[in-house]
Amino acid sequence: MKILVINGPNINMLGIREKNIYGDLSYLKLIDMIEKKSTELQIEIECFQNNIEGEIINKIQSAYAKYDGIIINPAAYTHYSIAILDAIKSVSIPTIEVHLSNIHSREEFRHRSVTASACIGQISGFGSYKSEAKRS
Ligand code: DQA
Repeated sequence: MKILVINGPNINMLGIREKNIYGDLSYLKLIDMIEKKSTELQIEIECFQNNIEGEIINKIQSAYAKYDGIIINPAAYTHYSIAILDAIKSVSIPTIEVHLSNIHSREEFRHRSVTASACIGQISGFGSYKSEAKRS
């Protein structure tokens, strides 16, 4: 099982940007958490972050026939990138859209995702929630 994790613009600023919304976990710590979990689950993952729309599209296209799934936080592109929507549709790889914040409880312009319709589903508002931590 091979999963591609894509984070869009400004996600590299986690831990610095709007901590009241996104928390104080840095991007590198988030990736560390994801990598540990994937090792535990014996899933092969690649994590990619980019601030440029075209680079995200190139990455999605390069996943064609190589990955079993994509997990993507398109960040602000969520709300207007028809090009990313088309890229997700092009590769026919099961994709899950993730948002750290609850986009539906924020400004009106964040309520709409143009990319979610190409995805199996959307997870929004759980930050970097660790299910184990809550259980213990
Ligand atoms: C975000 C929500 C977007 O509206 C915003 O532009 C982001 C991050 C989230 O993870 O909550 O950059 O995708």
